[in-house]
Amino acid sequence: MNKRPIIIDTDPGIDDAVAIAIALFSEELDVKLLTTVAGNVSLDKVTYNALRILKFFRKEVPVAKGADAPLIRPFTDASNVHGQSGMEGFDFEEPDDHLLLKENAVDAMRRVILESEEPVTLVPIAPLTNIALLLKTYPEVKENIREIVLMGGSASRGNKGVMSEFNVATDPEAAKIVFDCGLPLVMAGLDVGWKALVLPEDSAKLPQLGEVGRMAYCLFQKYRGGSMKTGLKMYDSCAIAYLLKPELYEMVETCVDVELSGSMTAGCTLVDLKGYLGKPNNAKVCMDIDQELFRKWFLESIARCI
Ligand code: RIB
Ligand code: CA
Repeated sequence: MNKRPIIIDTDPGIDDAVAIAIALFSEELDVKLLTTVAGNVSLDKVTYNALRILKFFRKEVPVAKGADAPLIRPFTDASNVHGQSGMEGFDFEEPDDHLLLKENAVDAMRRVILESEEPVTLVPIAPLTNIALLLKTYPEVKENIREIVLMGGSASRGNKGVMSEFNVATDPEAAKIVFDCGLPLVMAGLDVGWKALVLPEDSAKLPQLGEVGRMAYCLFQKYRGGSMKTGLKMYDSCAIAYLLKPELYEMVETCVDVELSGSMTAGCTLVDLKGYLGKPNNAKVCMDIDQELFRKWFLESIARCI
């Protein structure tokens, strides 16, 4: 069976790192490209982290640098969650730069998409700046994009603002461009991200699950997306889980719009389950997750890595 070609747009980031590992070591996915965007930490730091984890995973995947700031709004990071480096807790070797493309992320995504024999799935697990720029700069790529499966948004409350999730709230204008683009779109937001927990009894098993398990265990000591005691939120793995184990989810097809002008609500995703906005459906939203099955899948996936 042909592996599904995907491009992961990322801001590593501790939860990004384990999500990327699961994708890279899966039987079903062919990760054609990693593109980086300012998010958890600066563009330079997330790019450095992407290269460091690829070296650690011993995976030869090209990396292309993208946007160093949102389209319009000032950049604010999440170093309080991931540490100043964005990858606190594990001592990676210095990366080799041979995987870093000279092309920027948008040009690299365009090339990979148009060259692909099979339609490509975009998997943004970061602010959507690169994806918005791609769709606006090269709309012709839509012909060969199968689906966008993103981690972001929330049908309920936020983790950056009262009602806004970090990836969408960092660049709301970019998010609106993506949600309005007309391509098949899956939203794995906080409604499942908050429940996709690695519990203490799971974390305790990680050091026995190979090199990636040991890496995750060390990173999770510093990760502030939850805690080792109360459970660690595997936000970005939710997007990969949709691709590899969609039966984990309860989904709803609905309209999602992004608030841009609210003085206190900019960046919140309006998941319009009752159709108040009178707009067509544009997304499948993950509304719930089988938590036990997720934990089992997560540990099995980590065990499959090196
Ligand atoms: O809200 C969670 C998202 O913000 C995740 O992608 C995490 O890595 C951060 O980027
Ligand atoms: Ca991320």
